[in-house]
Amino acid sequence: MSAAATGRLTLAQALDALPKVELHCHVEGTMRPATVVELARRNGLPLPTEDLAELYSYGSLDEFLSVFWLVQSTLASRDDWARLGYESVLDAAAHGRVYGELFFTPARHLAAGQRLADVVAGLAEGIAAAEAETGSVAMLIADMDRAYGPAAGLQMVTELAELRRAGAPGVDRVIGVGMDSTELGVDSRTFVDAYRAAATAGFRLTGHQGENSPPEAVAAVVDVLGAERVDHGLSLVTDPALVRRFAAERIPLTVCPNSNIRIANAFPALGEHPFPAMRAAGLLATLNTDDPAMTDLDLGYEYASVAETFGYSFAEMVTIALDGVEASWLDDAGKRALRDRIRIEADLLAARLPATA
Ligand code: HPA
Ligand code: ZN
Repeated sequence: MSAAATGRLTLAQALDALPKVELHCHVEGTMRPATVVELARRNGLPLPTEDLAELYSYGSLDEFLSVFWLVQSTLASRDDWARLGYESVLDAAAHGRVYGELFFTPARHLAAGQRLADVVAGLAEGIAAAEAETGSVAMLIADMDRAYGPAAGLQMVTELAELRRAGAPGVDRVIGVGMDSTELGVDSRTFVDAYRAAATAGFRLTGHQGENSPPEAVAAVVDVLGAERVDHGLSLVTDPALVRRFAAERIPLTVCPNSNIRIANAFPALGEHPFPAMRAAGLLATLNTDDPAMTDLDLGYEYASVAETFGYSFAEMVTIALDGVEASWLDDAGKRALRDRIRIEADLLAARLPATA
């Protein structure tokens, strides 16, 4: 939306247009359904149905992961990754995302013989093209897939560090390392060597935890693996002492409330999500979509549904957007510029809202 735009807005429209940051979004989980079908056909991957709405309903995280892995498997070449990166950034930009740090999880592709250099170069090329069209910036976080184990994780980090040393095409987009996938039967602390190698190579660190595991596992991601932030971190709320510590240390949590309903089945409805309690406790809890194309979400809806469900004002939602900047891995100058932009555009949008919003 241009700054000169006028006319009244609903709260949902203003939140869609508000410039926003996203720190928890899996690029594979943004793949357009039509692209999933087209790549599956072209790459000879049979889908159980081409009506993806039938597939995209989940009873648990692990049930979701089996579908996510199928979607991932449609990506067979550098060009496929480039198309994914391009469409992903276009679609997020349409809902006000101006800066993102996006996960990609290449374990199954590397195991099938794809080269990490091609995955990175393809994604970076597609993202750069969409960035040039929209101005929406996206950086990358290389996630280890816990289901493939710590040795595969260390191998990916080692290769990534080599690509960085060699100045390989697109590798400057990859600013961090994380981990995702199943939490059942996996002790994330066993990934410590991979995390150490990533830190030594200069990557920022994060990790999924607490979606399906207890609060001690969330603390271990910070204390044992050295992560700077935690993706989800949901189970933290069951440990008040740990909540106080995370709040005092401003350790960011990349929270995905609608995903927690639709993927993790952690609560029956959004109104029961502890997001407001997390914010009230002083946690640096940010808002994110996780896997928007596989859960019928977008970042504008994530903000609007949270505002409407919990009664947040537009000004309170702007504070949440600014916390996204604080939790990001932008440098200080980048954070300052983005905060200024959000504040300026938020003032213009606020002027077009009813006085009650
Ligand atoms: N959790 C774990 N792994 C994932 C997720 C998630 O929410 N989304 C994609 N991979
Ligand atoms: Zn996730």
